[in-house]
Amino acid sequence: MYRRQRHIYDLTRKFYLLGRDELIADLSPPAQGTVLEIACGTGRNLIRAARAYPEARFFGLDVSEEMLATARANIAAAGMSGRIALAAGDATAFDPQALFGVPAFDRVFVSYALSMIPAWEKAAGEAAARLAPGGRLMVVDFGDQGGWPRWFRHALRGWLTKFHVTPRVALAPTLARLAAERGLRFDFRPLYRRYAFLAAVSAN
Ligand SMILES: C[S@@+](CC[C@H](N)C(=O)[O-])C[C@H]1O[C@@H](n2cnc3c(N)ncnc32)[C@H](O)[C@@H]1O
Repeated sequence: MYRRQRHIYDLTRKFYLLGRDELIADLSPPAQGTVLEIACGTGRNLIRAARAYPEARFFGLDVSEEMLATARANIAAAGMSGRIALAAGDATAFDPQALFGVPAFDRVFVSYALSMIPAWEKAAGEAAARLAPGGRLMVVDFGDQGGWPRWFRHALRGWLTKFHVTPRVALAPTLARLAAERGLRFDFRPLYRRYAFLAAVSAN
């Protein structure tokens, strides 16, 4: 799907993958901390996060070799190849030790990917399982658009379906359950009249 789209991906997604910069602003990894983006796409978020947190180390995982090739080129063009490592892997089952030589991360984030992954609850569980002690998982994705008129919700859902995207209306309760199972805290912020959901599972 991304063979052609990846070349115009960041330009076209800028206007509707809302909340990504809010997530990056809230990441605040510890100094020398480790940050993993699951389903990193073109590397857009990793590059911005690496600029925002110059002492942290960044890792990106994606199932699409095409997207990873674009991410690699973007990261090199940004002069960040020494700070951002990439690997191919499936969000629903991956071994970060084998891929990156890192068993767990201070921050793990997933941006506009759970809405594309059929086994998204499994992917969310995998993400939470990769947290280092004291770590934080952050997720941004399409919300339920509850504050928007019905015609807008219908138009958006129809359009997203063409890209195999399904807003996960159960995102909040699913992440809340994951947090409760691990004795972690759950924070949830609807954005732009519930266009998007920004959620965090963390130790404090
Ligand atoms: C809508 S893009 C979002 C990219 C990036 N996170 C962002 O916010 O710009 C979704 C990404 O999820 C990746 N993806 C889909 N299913 C995946 C899976 N099972 N494991 C890992 N990545 C996956 C796609 O290849 C694509 O790069």
